Amino acid sequence: MASSTQYCLFFSISTLLLLFFNASPVLAQQSFRPKALVIPVSKDASTLQYTTHITQRTPLVPINLVLDLGGQFLWVDCEQNYVSSTYRPARCRSAQCSLARASVCGDCFSSPKPGCNNNTCGLTPDNTVTGTATGGELAYDVVSVPSTNGFNPGRNVSVSQFLFTCAPTFLLEGLAAGVSGMAGLGRTRISLPSQFASAFSFDRKFAICLSSSVSSNGVVFFGDGPYVVLPNVDVSESLIYTPLFINPVSTASAFSQGEASSEYFIKVNSIKVNEKPVAVNTTLLSIDRDGVGGTKISTVNPYTVLEASIFKAVTEAFISESKSMNITRVSSVGPFEVCFSRDNVLSTRVGPAVPSIDLVLQNESTFWRVFGANSMVQVNDDVLCLAVVNGGESPRTSIVIGGYQLENNLLQFDLATSRLGFSSSLLFRQTTCSNFNFTSTN
Ligand SMILES: *[C@@H]1O[C@H](CO)[C@@H](O)[C@H](O)[C@H]1NC(C)=O
Ligand SMILES: *[C@@H]1O[C@H](CO)[C@@H](O)[C@H](O)[C@H]1NC(C)=O
Ligand SMILES: *[C@@H]1O[C@H](CO)[C@@H](O)[C@H](O)[C@H]1NC(C)=O
Ligand SMILES: *[C@@H]1O[C@H](CO)[C@@H](O)[C@H](O)[C@H]1NC(C)=O
Ligand SMILES: *[C@@H]1O[C@H](CO)[C@@H](O)[C@H](O)[C@H]1NC(C)=O
Ligand SMILES: *[C@@H]1O[C@H](CO)[C@@H](O)[C@H](O)[C@H]1NC(C)=O
Repeated sequence: MASSTQYCLFFSISTLLLLFFNASPVLAQQSFRPKALVIPVSKDASTLQYTTHITQRTPLVPINLVLDLGGQFLWVDCEQNYVSSTYRPARCRSAQCSLARASVCGDCFSSPKPGCNNNTCGLTPDNTVTGTATGGELAYDVVSVPSTNGFNPGRNVSVSQFLFTCAPTFLLEGLAAGVSGMAGLGRTRISLPSQFASAFSFDRKFAICLSSSVSSNGVVFFGDGPYVVLPNVDVSESLIYTPLFINPVSTASAFSQGEASSEYFIKVNSIKVNEKPVAVNTTLLSIDRDGVGGTKISTVNPYTVLEASIFKAVTEAFISESKSMNITRVSSVGPFEVCFSRDNVLSTRVGPAVPSIDLVLQNESTFWRVFGANSMVQVNDDVLCLAVVNGGESPRTSIVIGGYQLENNLLQFDLATSRLGFSSSLLFRQTTCSNFNFTSTN
């Protein structure tokens, strides 16, 4: 949980009064205007977190970050090894504080350094893996990333005043080795997609394509398609669209009243296994006025998490359908409850031939079908397990679609029209998310 007491050690609330400025505080280099940007994503073998890297500071240094689809902003450990001649804290009542909705202002009672300055506004960097948040100074510095024409990375472009929040080193606990923070792609005005779109005046769209392999990179695109992967497949084409929903109550580890969630929610209306409806309590599928329920997409959960009664209904249907396909259930292998012998399980292009799971969306003909490659984890030579975990009774969100279910699917988030486009398994199109050609053409 959040440590608001910790926050008070660093910040004293001096004023909640804000002045608003019109100037865009996010300044980009002017000479070349990219249409889109591209960064690699890898899967960390020990934590199953997805990590990315960008370059930041002056001189530029590469920094590794855990990718957080619903995260509010970029946060970075400023306590260790932060050296930069272009670091600037956001002064109280500045345009930066107002853009970031950082209304808490304060001083730091130590010697000045990145993360510790007087008269600055602060936010609450959130380690969404462990659910720990703390107070941190809002700041800006140079960030540089490769542009792209959709086919390859091109020249690097930089944003000279990229807003982020400083965090103490302890906030990194629980994150993959070698990372120095988290890259939030969520629904805020200062998330990475928002700042890049505003700096380069491109569409407020971005796409993620996570690789299933720990040895080859997936990709995140900022801006619109084409998104081309080898052998010359534009995966931004023929997407299925579904509306994105805003959860009016923040799902962050610490937040103030009235704050909406920065995470991406969709509306699952029903669930089918092998095209047969599964009876679930539909109340759980809606977001109620307290922000409880509904379905979100998360890259910090390695596997899909289902509320207990939904878990029971879906796994029972899956077990029964598997039985009729002559697939034999075997003992569980943690963290999974439902496992099967590999005997009698055929292989297909989209993974082991097991019952399909459909998340039915705005109408019966719009569904997200999960095939074996995204539903089954091979835990050893003989055993496959259903890659879904039990979220217990009364979780905050009823369905959390986790990283494993997103792998080798392209997901495009359009913030302007508030819709999600998804490709279904790219394995059908004989390609994968690790097929972007990262050879630079500059
Ligand atoms: C902030 O101001 C206080 C009081 O003037 C001073 O003691 C402290 O050193 C200053 N902190 C920084 C980081 O400049
Ligand atoms: C872009 O920056 C990265 C990291 O600093 C560097 O490795 C790469 O060579 C640069 N690419 C170009 C095209 O300058
Ligand atoms: C369905 O879920 C809601 C919300 O948790 C609960 O209040 C209600 O009692 C449930 N209905 C049934 C039939 O279990
Ligand atoms: C399942 O196995 C039984 C016995 O081995 C066989 O008779 C039956 O045809 C099989 N069914 C399917 C669907 O493969
Ligand atoms: C289902 O939704 C899709 C996308 O919103 C729409 O194009 C389609 O016409 C709808 N189909 C039916 C049968 O309503
Ligand atoms: C990757 O892109 C580079 C630069 O355009 C090109 O030379 C190379 O042939 C591409 N690789 C493949 C496998 O197409």
